[in-house]
Amino acid sequence: AFRSRLTGVGGALPQQVVTNNDLAERLDTSDEWIRTRTGIGQRHIASGDENAVSLATEAAQAALGHAAVEASDIDAIIVATSTPDQVFPSVAVRVQAALGMERGFGFDVSAACSGFIYAIATADAMIRSGQAKRIIVIGVEVFSRLLDWTDRSTCVLFGDGAGAVVLEAGARDGEGILSTHLHADGRLGDLLYVNGAVGCATGDVALKMNGREVFRHAIVHLAAAVDEALEEQGLNGNDVQWLVPHQANLRIIDGMAKRLALPPERVVVTVDRHANTSAASIPLALNEAVKDGRIKENDLILMEALGGGLTWGSALIRL
Ligand code: ACO
Repeated sequence: AFRSRLTGVGGALPQQVVTNNDLAERLDTSDEWIRTRTGIGQRHIASGDENAVSLATEAAQAALGHAAVEASDIDAIIVATSTPDQVFPSVAVRVQAALGMERGFGFDVSAACSGFIYAIATADAMIRSGQAKRIIVIGVEVFSRLLDWTDRSTCVLFGDGAGAVVLEAGARDGEGILSTHLHADGRLGDLLYVNGAVGCATGDVALKMNGREVFRHAIVHLAAAVDEALEEQGLNGNDVQWLVPHQANLRIIDGMAKRLALPPERVVVTVDRHANTSAASIPLALNEAVKDGRIKENDLILMEALGGGLTWGSALIRL
């Protein structure tokens, strides 16, 4: 079997920054409320020609550059998103065209905030089976288009962005993607959902969430997911150099760090500046910590996410 390793990371954020104070000017909210409940201070919001394809392409180009791989050497593009610009073609094939690729295949994965974990698990399985040797995995969201900007209980939580990684066959034993674990419980679908499809604005298509219940399930399921990933490899929290969690909420992130007994300096946090970018949050956080030199070769990285579905899961990677 071919084991997969991560050889490049990239990210892209819209230019426009919207602070909590900006929101407080048009909504009954405050910087203090948003920061203490969520850890969020600002978010990037797409405008002008920025969209899922443009952000995903920019992140993919950065990851290709970092991996020193040409687009023509890529066999597949897998995009995790809940906010494609159109129903079809997929974001993945639009990115394929934008990168100038003339071969390979691409498709989108829908698993809300867990999308990147689902996409990386899919890419890893394809590399292990020999179906592809080099895959770009992208998480991209333009959640600003799904939000009811008059609903203070949801619109303050999210932001737009894209993150990408290049996965390549050829990891040695004990290196690369060590494991991925996926879970879902469709019975909990009504805790967090968006009706309709992007571009088909019939009825109320804004995001709806039962914040308290999502929070409660996140703590329980993510704790179990983290234990499952480590136990399978005979590891414990001490062995983890970096927790790169989905960035929904600082209180959920802190809960996971405590469970692993990880000090705050070993947890990558971007939620303060990016807010919740759903499927893009993990690769954006990974990109930041690799590029600023915190995450180094050979480090053990644990990723975890929970989102609408409910869906959740983990990925354990030795860089
Ligand atoms: N500004 C000021 N007040 C607000 C705001 C706001 N932006 N939003 C809600 N409130 C008010 C409410 O109206 C309510 O007022 P009331 O008591 O007078 O009715 C009060 O604040 C408390 O509201 P709750 O919803 O109970 O607040 P809670 O402490 O649960 O915090 C939050 C809300 C931050 C959403 C929390 O439930 C949470 O973090 N949940 C996790 C959900 C999440 O992160 N989802 C992201 C997608 S899923 C994922 O990625 C994991």
